[in-house]
Amino acid sequence: AKKIGVLTSGGDAPGMNAAVRAVCRAALARGMEVVGIKRGYNGLLNGEIIEMNARTVSNIIQRGGTCLYTARCPEFRNKEGVQKGADKCREIGLDGIVVIGGDGSFRGAADLSAMGIPCIGLPGTIDNDISCTEYTIGYDTAMNTAMEMIDKIRDTAQSHDRCSVVEVMGRNAGYIAINVGLAVGAEAVITPEEDYDLDAICAKMQKVMKSGKTHFLIVVAEGVGKTEEITKLIQEKTGVETRATILGHVQRGGSPTVRDRVIATQMGYHAVELLEKGIGNRVVGMRDNKIYDVDIQEALSMTKPFEDELYAILNDTAF
Ligand code: F6P
Repeated sequence: AKKIGVLTSGGDAPGMNAAVRAVCRAALARGMEVVGIKRGYNGLLNGEIIEMNARTVSNIIQRGGTCLYTARCPEFRNKEGVQKGADKCREIGLDGIVVIGGDGSFRGAADLSAMGIPCIGLPGTIDNDISCTEYTIGYDTAMNTAMEMIDKIRDTAQSHDRCSVVEVMGRNAGYIAINVGLAVGAEAVITPEEDYDLDAICAKMQKVMKSGKTHFLIVVAEGVGKTEEITKLIQEKTGVETRATILGHVQRGGSPTVRDRVIATQMGYHAVELLEKGIGNRVVGMRDNKIYDVDIQEALSMTKPFEDELYAILNDTAF
């Protein structure tokens, strides 16, 4: 019987547990053995391996975080580390690994595949910043959390006639920002992908204040790196009392949404189908709303368009 491992790597994301569960159960259903590797590639190198059965993954589909723990592993970035990892896989008798994480984790999966251990990458990150896929596990939950938080911030901004500047996560990408900004009715969304004109935003604010608007919401992607500065400038230029809120890690936790659970399960299932056939060095993703797989090197060389259409719609409906 084939024996496969599953690990989560990089930043955690809601829905990772659903993916781990699907990998485990789908493999067991095919008569394969499954082990969990704790704390990403670190656990492989340190031998933090747990036997998994159907019960190991009971009661986790609804939980945020990852039951396998996660970590970033600098040692896996050099050849010796990967070699050691491949040796460990042979020692344990692994015929393949499912790696749930982001681009950094996929690089390790490609290197390990090149050393004869078939690996399949599943996109797990709240940022949706993986080019080969329209969707990453955790994205929907993170956006819903951010939306709920900003709805609350709006209540108090409205009561005090204030402007709230809210920073959302996304590393260097503005996907969370533009979608959440649209969903909360923000007056402006500032992302690393699009140029912005703070003077123009402030001028519009002043104009609509004359016709009775009293509070404002500006969403800023963390990748812009200027949330405090923007907050200060808005207050100076408009005279509106302005507050900054950095949502931070609240966006990484919580029970995954339907979308995250379903897609994580589909992707986990697809990964096992590939490993069953002995296929490795692939990333599972979503294209045209369907689950597909692609060569890891090819996946890493792709680029992803920004949400230009949403950005245009937001700007035409904001004030
Ligand atoms: O990739 C997920 C993410 O939450 C990014 O949005 C953010 O830039 C980063 O991870 C934060 O990393 P850490 O949890 O290590 O501070």
